[in-house]
Amino acid sequence: MKGPLSIFLAAGFVLATASFAGCATTHKPYDDPDALAKLILENSEPYTLVDVRTPEEYASGHIPTAVNIPVNTIADHPPTQDKAALIIVYCQSGGRSATAKKTLDGMGYTRVVNFGSVTRWKGALVEGDSPVLTDFDAKESDFQAYRTWTKVNIDAVTGDAFGVLGPAHEAADGLRDIYVNVFGKSFYLEACGCTFPIGAILVKEAYKKAAGGGKGELASLSMMVKRGESFDPPNGNWEYFKSAPDLSGMTRGKLAGCAACHVVAKSWDFVFNTMKNKL
Ligand code: HEC
Repeated sequence: MKGPLSIFLAAGFVLATASFAGCATTHKPYDDPDALAKLILENSEPYTLVDVRTPEEYASGHIPTAVNIPVNTIADHPPTQDKAALIIVYCQSGGRSATAKKTLDGMGYTRVVNFGSVTRWKGALVEGDSPVLTDFDAKESDFQAYRTWTKVNIDAVTGDAFGVLGPAHEAADGLRDIYVNVFGKSFYLEACGCTFPIGAILVKEAYKKAAGGGKGELASLSMMVKRGESFDPPNGNWEYFKSAPDLSGMTRGKLAGCAACHVVAKSWDFVFNTMKNKL
């Protein structure tokens, strides 16, 4: 899995899990979508992720790094001979993956996890034959649950810490909350200056300042989505989005107005990361 993963992750990600070694390592089981995402992103232990659907279903969209072994062939073609290997299986609705787990268990494999339905995966799916995510063309539905993601700021961000804001993001008066999805989370919080992985999404809410101070009306959303390597290299392959709070009236693309300002934060992969960095 090393090759595809290194492309998926992009360069320079530093493993951070070890620093929490103080507490007993109670890993979430890998049938949990966040735990699986973390495993794939951090490659924290060797695993084989197996899509047991048909080749056509696999090609129409699979979880990054998954290989395809249709359920009816898995007895003859198990993903590895190592009976102690971590193997995670999934399918369309959970039926075939339960069968695959049973089959592998019966063959003596001891660490087979049934993830169940591919629809439980919260991130981008890979289309085509390759296990690697090469681009992420976001749909409106990819933003809908952003309030369940990680909120990076505690108090709302306000003012103009970088002296570049002008009227953007409700200007210096606005109050702003920033959310990051599971793919961008460690990259944002560690402020490592490394490249975010394809499929990372940042959403910023910009509130107007209320008459008496504090948060007023939510005025707009601004989003950044990490696309594939050839999307817009000079601007870090970020796609920019702007919409109303309910995601209506969305404009998107290589929005030059956004990029012109975010280039100031080029050394942090175009992300200001207000909470961690001081210019
Ligand atoms: C005039 C400069 C400027 C422009 C134009 C601008 N931004 Fe920003 N943006 C910032 C600054 C500064 C921050 C740091 C957080 C803050 O102060 O609110 C930021 C933060 C963000 C964040 C949160 C992630 C981060 O960088 O910390 C997102 C997402 C974002 N902007 C999206 C956009 C989009 C989309 C556009 C275009 C529609 C845009 N921005 C236009 C200056 C700008």
